[in-house]
Amino acid sequence: AEVVIVENAAAAGALVAQEIVELLDRKADAVLGLATGSTPLGVYKALAQRVEGRDLSQVRGFALDEYVGLDPAHPESYRSVITREVVEPLGLDPARVHVPNGSDETIQHAGADYEAAIEAAGGVDLQILGIGTDGHIGFNEPGSSFASRTRVKTLTEQTREDNARFFDSIDQVPRHCITQGLGTILRARHLVLLAFGEGKAQAIADAVEGPVSAILPASAIQLHEHATVVVDEAAASKLK
Ligand code: F6R
Repeated sequence: AEVVIVENAAAAGALVAQEIVELLDRKADAVLGLATGSTPLGVYKALAQRVEGRDLSQVRGFALDEYVGLDPAHPESYRSVITREVVEPLGLDPARVHVPNGSDETIQHAGADYEAAIEAAGGVDLQILGIGTDGHIGFNEPGSSFASRTRVKTLTEQTREDNARFFDSIDQVPRHCITQGLGTILRARHLVLLAFGEGKAQAIADAVEGPVSAILPASAIQLHEHATVVVDEAAASKLK
């Protein structure tokens, strides 16, 4: 992967937003792969500033993941987060922005349906990724198959603790999620993995320089021909 070290999250946001603007200039109905969590917020913010006044109603989007069994109207469902942080500020067409369906009733088909929707859109042009402290991307926790496609997974205790900050207490963090697989993510045409802060330094070093292993799911990016890693000094501090 190509590693770009930037001063801070705002600089990373400006850089990646510029990349996305160039993509949209080439392809008005580009397919964006959207991550949730704290890391990509600077990208969405910078992008919203850059595209102000521009018609982005053709743009398509696919979120990486969703909690299972959380009401989509819950403010921390990824459907809500994507609506609030991406669809509304960018003026996207909500009908063109997809989030895996984590409802219990349809969960059996949800993975295959999501894969079919990505396929029908012609695949993801640019996939934004964050990384978990345990090296997960999407919610592909350690041990996930590199061939995996969108499916239901169990969240690790570590990830539930990491995400408890978005809920009133850890008991409210769902135990299951539906996530694009590593195989799904690897099919995107360009991967942009972002990470900031010391807490991500080990995961970044392992992802970029460690052995390619399912133990560190983000190391899958080493198999991709166009992967860009954008990090601050702290997140880069364990790279050789
Ligand atoms: C979110 C996602 C996760 C996060 C990761 C880092 O859609 O897929 O892999 O990117 O957990 O989360 P933050 O950015 O909150 O540190």
